[in-house]
Amino acid sequence: MAEDERTNSPDLTASQATATHHSDASGEGQQRLERYALTHADDLHEEPPRTDIFRGLVVDSDPDRDSAYGDSDSSSLTTSLNSSVTDYKYEHGRRYHAYQEGKYVLPNDDAEIQRLELQHRIWQISLSGRLNSAPISENVSSCLDIGCGTGAWAIEFADRHPRCQVTGTDLSPIQPDIVPRNVEFIVDDITSEWLYPQKFDFIHSRAITVGIKDWGALVDQVWKNLKPGGWIEFQEYHFPFTSDDDTLKLCPALDLWNNNLASASAKAGMRLDAILGVPEILQEKGFANVNQAATKWPLGPWAKGKKEKKVGELLERDLLGAIEGTSMRLYTKILGWSEEAVRKHAEEVHDDIRARRAHAYIPIDFLWAQKPIDAVD
Ligand SMILES: C[S@@+](CC[C@H](N)C(=O)[O-])C[C@H]1O[C@@H](n2cnc3c(N)ncnc32)[C@H](O)[C@@H]1O
Repeated sequence: MAEDERTNSPDLTASQATATHHSDASGEGQQRLERYALTHADDLHEEPPRTDIFRGLVVDSDPDRDSAYGDSDSSSLTTSLNSSVTDYKYEHGRRYHAYQEGKYVLPNDDAEIQRLELQHRIWQISLSGRLNSAPISENVSSCLDIGCGTGAWAIEFADRHPRCQVTGTDLSPIQPDIVPRNVEFIVDDITSEWLYPQKFDFIHSRAITVGIKDWGALVDQVWKNLKPGGWIEFQEYHFPFTSDDDTLKLCPALDLWNNNLASASAKAGMRLDAILGVPEILQEKGFANVNQAATKWPLGPWAKGKKEKKVGELLERDLLGAIEGTSMRLYTKILGWSEEAVRKHAEEVHDDIRARRAHAYIPIDFLWAQKPIDAVD
C-alpha cells in the first residue's frame, strides 16, 4: 500500500462517537507501520480452498515432525493513543477501559494489546490469510468492524479494499495512530444503540463473546445497520477448551480454570458458547443464506500438520499471557476469589499448559448471513 494512503483519515461521522483517531506521520508511527507490514510479508494471503481452512485435528505421534510454519512471529504492532477516552481504570496491576467502565472484563494495557496482535496472527494462519468467509462483493463500499480491539482486522480489510470505507468500534482507543486513509476508529459501546448515519455493506466481528450478554439485541442492531443484500460475519471461539480423547483431565488446573471461567461468565450474564445459538437468532430475524463453518485451534504443538503446529504454539503463548488477565475481574468480582488465589491458580494453570500433557483445543466458529435484498426494516 502506498505510504500516502495512511496519512489521513476521514472525519468522525457517527453521532454517538466519543473519540476518533487521526493519523500522524511521525517517524515513530512509520516504524510501527513498517513492523506491521513485516508481519504480513509472507504467503498467507493466497486464497486457499476452503477445505484447507476448516479442517479437524489429528494427534501427531511425532510432534517434532513439522517444522515451524511461516515466518518468525517476533515482530508485532504496538500502538500509541491519541484520545480523550483514556481515563483508564487500574486494578490488580492491570489497565482497563474507561468508557462504559466495567462493561468488559479483560484489560486493555500493552500486554493485552500484544496478546491481541498475537491472536490476530493466529486468525491469519488459521484462515490461511482469508479475512472473511462471507461472499461479499469486490465493490464493497462500507464495512463496520465491531469490537475491533487493536484494529488489525479492520486495517488489513481496508488495505485489501481501498475503495471501501472501514469503521472500527471499540470501548478502548487502542488502535494505531497511523492507519489507511479509508479507516476510522470510534470509541463506542456496541451494546448501546448504534446511531451511524449510514448503513453498511458488511459488518464483521471477531472474538467479542466475552463482551456480549444479549446476542438477540446485537443481531437486531446488525439488521438495522446493514444495507439490503449486505452481509454479517461472526468469527468466534467458544469455551470451554476440550479434548476428544479425554486427555484434558491430565491437566486438572487448566480444566478447572476453563470451567470456572465459563461459570463465572454465565453468572455475569455471558455464555461463552453463546455463538452456538446465533444461527437460530439470525434465521428468526429474517437473515438469508445463513452459513456456518468450524475449525479447532490446538493448544500446543500436538496436532499433525505444519499449520496446526504453528497455531498450537501461538495459542499456547496467547493463553499463557491470558490466564491471569482473563480471570482476575471475573474470579474476584463474581466468584469471590482473592487476588492472591487467582495468581496462584494462574501459576498452576501455566504449569499444566507448559507440561503439554493434553490434546486440548478450543472450538472456532464462523457464521455468516445475508440481509435479504427485499428486506423491510
Ligand atoms: C478479545 S478482543 C477482540 C478484538 C478484535 N475483534 C480482534 O479479533 O482482534 C474483544 C474486544 O471487544 C471489545 N468489546 C467488548 N465489549 C464491547 C462493547 N460492549 N462495545 C465495544 N467493544 C467491546 C473489547 O474492548 C475488546 O477490544
